[in-house]
Amino acid sequence: MKVTVVGAGAVGASCAEYIAIKNFASEVVLIDIKENFAEGKAMDLMQTAALNGFDTKITGSTNDYFKTAGSHIAVVTSGIPRKPGMTREELIGINAGIVKSVSEQLIKHSPDVILIIVSNPMDTMTYLTHKVLGISKNRIIGMGGALDSARFKYRLAEAMDCPSSDVDGMVIGGHSDKGMVPLTRLATRNSVRISEVLSTERLQKVLEDTKVGGATLTGMLGTSAWYAPGAAVSALVQSIACDQHKMFPCSSFLEGEYGLNDLCIGVPVILGKNGIEKIVEIELSTDELEQFKTSADGVKTTNKLLNDLNLL
Ligand SMILES: NC(=O)c1ccc[n+]([C@@H]2O[C@H](COP(=O)([O-])OP(=O)(O)OC[C@H]3O[C@@H](n4cnc5c(N)ncnc54)[C@H](O)[C@@H]3O)[C@@H](O)[C@H]2O)c1
Repeated sequence: MKVTVVGAGAVGASCAEYIAIKNFASEVVLIDIKENFAEGKAMDLMQTAALNGFDTKITGSTNDYFKTAGSHIAVVTSGIPRKPGMTREELIGINAGIVKSVSEQLIKHSPDVILIIVSNPMDTMTYLTHKVLGISKNRIIGMGGALDSARFKYRLAEAMDCPSSDVDGMVIGGHSDKGMVPLTRLATRNSVRISEVLSTERLQKVLEDTKVGGATLTGMLGTSAWYAPGAAVSALVQSIACDQHKMFPCSSFLEGEYGLNDLCIGVPVILGKNGIEKIVEIELSTDELEQFKTSADGVKTTNKLLNDLNLL
């Protein structure tokens, strides 16, 4: 199992570290445009192998895609992160060109690769990859909902003063502050509905904190977060690499599912050795469906910017 991670920055390196620590991949190739940067990160990570007890071989490369040849899975984290006060959508002008050229390089050297897109604005970058590569939709997956759901569970656990492992919940929709749709109605603590445990006011606060989860950390850190994003990507990689058939909300190309067409947006999917094995259509309430459709309108508006950038 060979995994390539493009972008050896905060999220890419964190993702490579979690993959290695879980010890399911034989090889992780880190690749970055910055001279010697990926090589340095790879060496630093390899020096944790004896301490953390993993056998995954991590190598680094400065933009040499021959080193990525034969990858089963590739994660795209290359590009710029947001600074405090910025929206993810504002990154499109720089990141779209990077994601396009990186995806083309990856597919050239690994024609059967399954791609996980992380760079923001993630739903639009996933859509761009889909349009540019023209490969089957099960092989292009956007990571956002798995992170947003983990943040939702963190906020729910905080509100109930219980461990996150007691909580189940999911966030669907676009990976943006306004676009996220946390499915509060379906969230549970060990099968007990959250609405039975938390007041409407407390739940509203959880919703608000979840939606600005990324922006809150960007304000505190001065740049975008990396531990939870890296862990979320590694969970998707593991489900594919180990054919686990786990369910995550992922940005997927829709062709009629949820009544939507021609966009990538977060919906529950099953991830296995073929990438997206199935898009799961759950019954949404009228209110949830309305929020989801508004979110889709937002994603489509950002997608239109790709035409202005002459990338489609
Ligand atoms: N989808 C999500 O849930 C999620 C979560 C966190 C961050 N992000 C996004 O992930 C991206 C990376 O964030 P980060 O914090 O790791 O940023 P970072 O600046 O730490 O790392 C990005 C790396 O990409 C490299 N890079 C730039 N152009 C490249 C190219 N053409 N080829 C190869 N490498 C290239 C840079 O040299 C840098 O090392 C950002 O766009 C950020 O917004 C997404």
